Amino acid sequence: MSVLSGKKILLGISGGIAAYKTASLVRLFIKAGADVRVVMTPASKDFVTPLTLSTLSKNPVVSTFFNEEEKDAEWNNHVELGLWADFMVIAPATANTMSKMASGTCDNLLIATYLSAKCPVYFAPAMDLDMYKHPSTLASFTSLQKFGNIMIPAETGELASGLSGEGRMAEPENIVAFIEADILQKLPLKGKKILVTAGPTYEAIDPVRFIGNHSSGKMGLDIALKAANQGAEIILISGPTHLQAKHQNIQTIFVTSAQEMHDACHQYFDNVDVAIAAAAVADYRPKNPSSQKIKKTEATLQIELEKTTDILAALGQKKNKQFLIGFALETENEIENAKAKIVKKNLDLIVLNSLNDEGAGFKTQTNKVTFIDKNFHTEPMNLKPKEQVAEDIINKIIQHYA
Ligand code: CTP
Repeated sequence: MSVLSGKKILLGISGGIAAYKTASLVRLFIKAGADVRVVMTPASKDFVTPLTLSTLSKNPVVSTFFNEEEKDAEWNNHVELGLWADFMVIAPATANTMSKMASGTCDNLLIATYLSAKCPVYFAPAMDLDMYKHPSTLASFTSLQKFGNIMIPAETGELASGLSGEGRMAEPENIVAFIEADILQKLPLKGKKILVTAGPTYEAIDPVRFIGNHSSGKMGLDIALKAANQGAEIILISGPTHLQAKHQNIQTIFVTSAQEMHDACHQYFDNVDVAIAAAAVADYRPKNPSSQKIKKTEATLQIELEKTTDILAALGQKKNKQFLIGFALETENEIENAKAKIVKKNLDLIVLNSLNDEGAGFKTQTNKVTFIDKNFHTEPMNLKPKEQVAEDIINKIIQHYA
């Protein structure tokens, strides 16, 4: 999945021959799962039609402050457009448009939108080779980058003038690749390795039976996906579940029993920055699992259970640099019990679920949690979908490294 998926992209098109390539650019953004809106300078409409771009972007295209042909016309709100976008791309950025961006000469909707935008702005220059090297153009590059705009350098090749050299707008594929790489590299968890445990564990009674629980693994999976989307590399150690993490940053290791989960965690723990124990690990397992299927010969059956190793506590003992997050599911004295677990398991943060809260717990799509950190700072959260709880947990990690 592209990092552009779900992103709101505002494409600003200025009047150069390379504008015809923006039809492909819009298609690529849409294919990557982005929502695209287009603002054009009046001159760019000579090179590509608003109809083409609105058809491809599935959104109206704007180029003037209001539509003169419409009676009772409403103004095209450049402030709203600028605030809507996750980022803006100005492609092609002509010498004229860049100069106006640099000086703040606000004589068209594109420049007004650019000046209103609070989001990152990429610009992809396009012009003839001598124009590209002119001191005034170079001055625009410098000013625009000093303002924090990100330049997508022009490429070298045949130009519309018939000359050959530097100045061709980067190809649409390269613009997309440039932006994707830039976003990835700036993600807040880029370079961080995170271990996540998820799902239930199954403890064998005999070769065909086990003791398990109802955990679906969704909480752990949501955490893994949210962290991966913020650039982290994830080792997801999952008990038996039907859910699958499809993300290039997530490596899933399937285990069955608590002991297997424990061993896998210890194999990876030394090399991770963060560990999040979201698995519902069995606390007890059959002491002597039968190697043969148990026959129903007796009227009653007693199975002796022994404690499993507490994986989280073992990681707490071992940790040096790792930020360690655990969960607690409590029914009484919630806060006190959770605080005791922070100390006992040497945690940095605990996510407390209280079964007393309506809408919280195993079988709901929502959860209501309280965060308690190792200094016992307590932060109750609202009832929200589990995906958003996962996001809150990831934000805690981002804050820790900020
Ligand atoms: N956990 C673990 N290994 C275990 C048991 C629990 O890693 N063998 C982790 C869970 O992944 C979770 C936290 O410990 O992060 C949950 O603990 P919880 O079940 O609430 O409490 P326990 O510590 O097991 O204590 P108790 O059941 O007595 O409340």
